[in-house]
Amino acid sequence: MRMRKKRHLDERLAQCGAVLLARGKPCRNLKEAAEHYRALIDFEGEFGNRNSVHLEVGCGNGGFAAALALREPDINLVAVELCSNVIVTAAERVLREGISNVRFLNIPAEILPCYIPAGSVDVIYLNFSTPLPETSRARQRLTSPRFLAIYHELLRAGGRIVQKTDSAPFFDYSLEQYEQNGFRVVQTTRDLARSEWAGENIITEYEENFMRQGIPICRAVAVKCAREERI
Ligand SMILES: C[S@@+](CC[C@H](N)C(=O)[O-])C[C@H]1O[C@@H](n2cnc3c(N)ncnc32)[C@H](O)[C@@H]1O
Repeated sequence: MRMRKKRHLDERLAQCGAVLLARGKPCRNLKEAAEHYRALIDFEGEFGNRNSVHLEVGCGNGGFAAALALREPDINLVAVELCSNVIVTAAERVLREGISNVRFLNIPAEILPCYIPAGSVDVIYLNFSTPLPETSRARQRLTSPRFLAIYHELLRAGGRIVQKTDSAPFFDYSLEQYEQNGFRVVQTTRDLARSEWAGENIITEYEENFMRQGIPICRAVAVKCAREERI
């Protein structure tokens, strides 16, 4: 079911200008945009420091982004979300709570290279990305080879992806894709709540829902390999 557009959405997004760095697509052809359009963020100018940059792709309502930024004030977090209707909640919250180390991009992840300089990111979080089991939508999965190529470009050497999902088939697919696309999987669990990483876990909005239903959460960490290490 389609979500109804929030009331006064455009005005509300305009009021989030201090934390919302980009809105909308620069053009309809995402491939062309990613190759030719450049509005690269100067992180030092934007955040006033040279702290480690973390990226969350598909941040939804922004609960994870806000909690992570508060817990780790010495990182700069960029949270990306396609849907204006939900990112507005995330941006308003960060402004309301005075959280200074988060910025938002209301763009499709396909065009991240237009905004994020290559080799500038330390960690990418993929929290409960839609599994999209239909073969016809495999390209849209956020761990498909074309997205992994983008993350590989944006991550610095040794940078990592941290993924959580409730879907075992999507998890299996993602683990296979990491190993085939320039990443090495260094941590996995298929039951995060009973793993050694449970204590440090920040529970997202979707995760809370799955946990209430007793669904175990899968989590993986995949590290970017040097090109010569690629299979
Ligand atoms: C299932 S929700 C999870 C939200 C949040 N991470 C959580 O765990 O509560 C997945 C989110 O990813 C966003 N998304 C899906 N594909 C995207 C893309 N290509 N670029 C940016 N965001 C995307 C969706 O709009 C949606 O808000």
